[in-house]
Amino acid sequence: MSRTLLVTSALPYANGSIHLGHLVEHIQTDIWVRFQRMQGHTVHYFCADDTHGTPVMLAAKARGLTPEAMVELAHTEHEADLRGFSVDHDLYYSTHSPETEAMASDLYLKLKDQGLITLRAIEQFYDPVEAMFLPDRFIKGTCPRCRAPDQYGDNCEVCGASYSPTDLIDARSALSGSAPEKRLSEHHFLRLAACEDFLRQWTRSGTIPDEAANKLDEWFKTGLTDWDISRDAPYFGFEIPGAPGKFFYVWLDAPIGYIGTFRKLAKERGLDFDAGWRQDSTWELYHFIGKDILYFHALFWPALLHQTGMRTPTRLFVHGFLTVNGQKMSKSRGSFITARHYLDLLDPEYLRYYLAAKLNGSMEDIDLNLDDFCARVNSDLVGKYANLASRSAGFITKRFHGQLSDHLQEDQQALVETFRHAAPAIARAFDARDTGRAIREIMQLADLANQYVDQHKPWELARSEERHAELQQVCTTILELFRLLTLYLKPILPTITAKAEAFLAVDALHWNHVSHSLTGHSIQPYSHLVTRVDPEYVHRLVGMPGN
Ligand code: 2FM
Ligand code: ZN
Repeated sequence: MSRTLLVTSALPYANGSIHLGHLVEHIQTDIWVRFQRMQGHTVHYFCADDTHGTPVMLAAKARGLTPEAMVELAHTEHEADLRGFSVDHDLYYSTHSPETEAMASDLYLKLKDQGLITLRAIEQFYDPVEAMFLPDRFIKGTCPRCRAPDQYGDNCEVCGASYSPTDLIDARSALSGSAPEKRLSEHHFLRLAACEDFLRQWTRSGTIPDEAANKLDEWFKTGLTDWDISRDAPYFGFEIPGAPGKFFYVWLDAPIGYIGTFRKLAKERGLDFDAGWRQDSTWELYHFIGKDILYFHALFWPALLHQTGMRTPTRLFVHGFLTVNGQKMSKSRGSFITARHYLDLLDPEYLRYYLAAKLNGSMEDIDLNLDDFCARVNSDLVGKYANLASRSAGFITKRFHGQLSDHLQEDQQALVETFRHAAPAIARAFDARDTGRAIREIMQLADLANQYVDQHKPWELARSEERHAELQQVCTTILELFRLLTLYLKPILPTITAKAEAFLAVDALHWNHVSHSLTGHSIQPYSHLVTRVDPEYVHRLVGMPGN
């Protein structure tokens, strides 16, 4: 049956650069999307910058830019960075768009009509110098527990205490340094508790991983509280209809940006918008997210969609965090690696491969260990994969004018069949986002192929004239095995495998090309596919504070 899949990665904030943490998610999503496309499914993969809120306003101010100019700049940079890693979005858009604004207003009004929005005055810190309300993280002061100075309004980095900004001793604004005042302001809240029955059922219906559903149970136990969805001017965002001076909180319009972005894509491509988003949609919707934003995607987002008569996500795919050499990425330690810094030093396909080898579809954290990175790329991609072609192609080109044998011996055919029979297990691993397992299966096959090369030594066969036909068949076998490995690695390594397809002179490989064969086929001369990674460059990824 033909399937249509809508797939998203979480929307990166416009106040900073794309870094390796984002890449874990975007590369994971892109691999899954490429795999589903190879299966023949229709996939619309889209993403956008998350542009609103105080951090973007302040980052713009610090650069002497308007927020609009800042989000334009970030967009250009983010899009180029993600493309640099072959992340193949159909559209990379922005939440600061007319489509997202119209959708946010529309959904808000629907919630209001159903009595799900309530208004309540709350007391908040206000910076009299900057004339704005301050989010908790923009209040600093002395920790009420250990008396450490200069701590943020939500928790102490020295003793780990958590508290509310009102508990701070000597609280002041991180923006102006002035003493903040308490002021009352009316906020708009979504009555999440009214959606509890639906959410309890939705979160236990296979839509989120069990480990995440357990976490949600804790939240249900403590009770679902009203969600504050408004912020006061000045705020960079969308004004709430019928509420001058009140803006949607960034986390309200960010997920709605998924819909706004698809609306734009639908317009550009002539796709049926409603088919994707109406309640009874037969299309599938998958969100790839990090575990830190589960709360928003597993509670607010499905509640909002359900209550406004729209479809809810088919599944949330939740991943863990990335560490570098066992430690959290940190700007001060020089281990905060931006996408651009990586691209200036190394081939993006190495990182795609390494992350794929580490990811297993669970919420566990993964570690980028730089020595392991070098070892794996060199041993697998150069030593096991590319070597197969480089050790056999030259003979076919020089001795046989690029022509492969028109049939194989029984044992050769049997080896090729072993490779073909692995396809369903590899496909299951890709489908389950267990790319680590897919790679283990693929590399086991690569080991078999290399054993075959070592046993049959084409370079020795090439020395004797009588073994001419055997040489051609041995090299044809090796290249057939190489073709199958190329097919299996294609979702992970789009650039390298595109070069391999050109060299093999085959059409773009699809999953069902597993049954195709190279016998009787002509290939192009081999040109270099993968360069050994130089540890010197890998180690330059880290160690420069502030890069
Ligand atoms: O956590 C983040 O980086 C958010 N910008 C993700 C938003 S995802 C979606 F909901 F918009
Ligand atoms: Zn403390």
